[in-house]
Amino acid sequence: MAQKKIKTIAVLTSGGDSPGMNCVIRSIVRTSVGHGIKVYGIERGYSGLLNNEMREMNASSVGNIIQRGGTILLSSRSPEFREASHRARAAQILEDRDIDALIVCGGDGSFKGAMALSQEHNIPVIGIPGTIDNDLSGTDYTIGFDTAVNTAIEAVDKIRDTAASNDRTFLIEVMGARSSAIALKVGVCTGAENVLLNSQKVDYEKIAKAIRRGMRRGKNSSIIIVAEGEKPGRAYNISNVLEDMHNIPSKVCVLGHIQRGGSPAANDRFFGALMGMMAVETLFEGNHRHAIVLHRGETKVVPLDKCMEKSDHVMEDFVGLAEELSI
Ligand code: F6P
Repeated sequence: MAQKKIKTIAVLTSGGDSPGMNCVIRSIVRTSVGHGIKVYGIERGYSGLLNNEMREMNASSVGNIIQRGGTILLSSRSPEFREASHRARAAQILEDRDIDALIVCGGDGSFKGAMALSQEHNIPVIGIPGTIDNDLSGTDYTIGFDTAVNTAIEAVDKIRDTAASNDRTFLIEVMGARSSAIALKVGVCTGAENVLLNSQKVDYEKIAKAIRRGMRRGKNSSIIIVAEGEKPGRAYNISNVLEDMHNIPSKVCVLGHIQRGGSPAANDRFFGALMGMMAVETLFEGNHRHAIVLHRGETKVVPLDKCMEKSDHVMEDFVGLAEELSI
């Protein structure tokens, strides 16, 4: 596809918001301004695009947002955008505003939408990985993960205080509908006795044994981190079975959306800044249909189709690490 010179771009954030998306927006807007490119911010992800909800942005529109969680552009999940007829409408809206290219910050669903729009209507797109779940193929990191993990760690540490004071077992459920990345990292970092992944059948016998072994050597409280699975509340079912079948009572705490909010941690600010800048420069250099990823510690530009699947960045060895260290 012969690329025309990029004069105007648009940016949107899509899917579940994640801390650091504002750093991405800030970087895109300010890099664009630096290159003399006009930039629009589309509100509410693809839904907003379909409703022509957008505003022109300048350097001041992104002032004082680097420390804010959420996304100033708002976000949404847009089932409509899965349909070609709606994508055709979106392409027309972009054309009517002379928008030459689109940058999308989101997860696998958002990238699939961007790819379809690009292939069907010859629109240059760039993806920036943004989801707390760290579950996108082709990249080792998604913006928001570090903050979410830190939020969960802080919460688990607090629960540990009360668990220890009252000799209790706690099941703490962390986010990740189809990803266990948060659970695993939090489990290792909080010294959890067990980490229950999405992908594995719960081995109740093993959990009960570990808790009893701990008790025999005077350990009276345990923390079990549970990846939420398809529906939030999985930890309640596990708690019931532990009590009914193994006579182990436990308390449940579902951390939920608290993990999506909050001021972005250093990694999310840093990679947000870097990836936003690289996205604009990639377009400026005439490349399109790419994603900006982190691979083995380096930020890289890769074809977008490498990053369209869910991928659980879970190294199951880390489960062993959590368990071995918490004997
Ligand atoms: O953003 C990713 C994620 O937080 C998942 O971990 C979670 O299950 C899901 O989004 C919840 O989405 P929603 O807020 O739309 O219910």
